[in-house]
Amino acid sequence: MIFTKKDQTTLDKIITSRRDVRGNNFINKKISQKKLLKILNSAQNAPSVGYSQPWRFVIVDENKKELVYDHFKKSYNKSKKKFKERKLYNSLKLEGIKESNINIAVYYKKSKSNILGQTYMKRTGEYSVVCAILNMWLTARALNIGMGWVSILKPKKINKIFDIKSEDYKFIAYLCFGYTKEFFDEPELKKLGWEKKKKIKNLILKKENK
Ligand SMILES: Cc1cc2nc3c(=O)[nH]c(=O)nc-3n(C[C@H](O)[C@H](O)[C@H](O)COP(=O)(O)O)c2cc1C
Repeated sequence: MIFTKKDQTTLDKIITSRRDVRGNNFINKKISQKKLLKILNSAQNAPSVGYSQPWRFVIVDENKKELVYDHFKKSYNKSKKKFKERKLYNSLKLEGIKESNINIAVYYKKSKSNILGQTYMKRTGEYSVVCAILNMWLTARALNIGMGWVSILKPKKINKIFDIKSEDYKFIAYLCFGYTKEFFDEPELKKLGWEKKKKIKNLILKKENK
């Protein structure tokens, strides 16, 4: 398949207008099963080491959402101490667990057999799951659905909530999906002055940048 300039522009627009969406921006509107399947299908089309497709999903029910939210609140308050010099932390909304329509916990399924390409780089399986997550994020954006990634969570607690055994699975991400009031034109953390955008020339590792 040969893509046109228009296709390239569209891809670029989807990539640059993808945002992390949080509770201050989700609206109360249902995502259809068809759209959810599209998002899951895009994960299934991600690259994976040895074509192992090691991603697994838990579609979270409302009761479990509450448990995850309670755990988030505790972890958020604890992590506050690490950022005590930055007053802005208290005003940051860093999740949209309850405000979003669908929550998905993403797991890496550990393999008991050898995986092609994973012999020396054990974590390539986990990297594959992250590739799937980015596909989901971009596909959601193309469907005008927002996604937020919540990581202020303790994997052990999350495993307990979902009754998942850490010998078999590793918790990778907690994702919140929903329609939004708007998509910000820039990362919220940039807008709020938490971090600046780095320049490409400073990202190329040379002697002077190391
Ligand atoms: C691995 C990972 C973990 C993240 N965890 C959180 C989180 O716990 N809470 C949150 O509000 N945003 C989280 N984010 C979103 C980032 O803050 C966001 O991607 C970044 O600020 C850039 O903004 P943008 O995604 O809107 O472009 C996470 C993103 C990634 C890739």
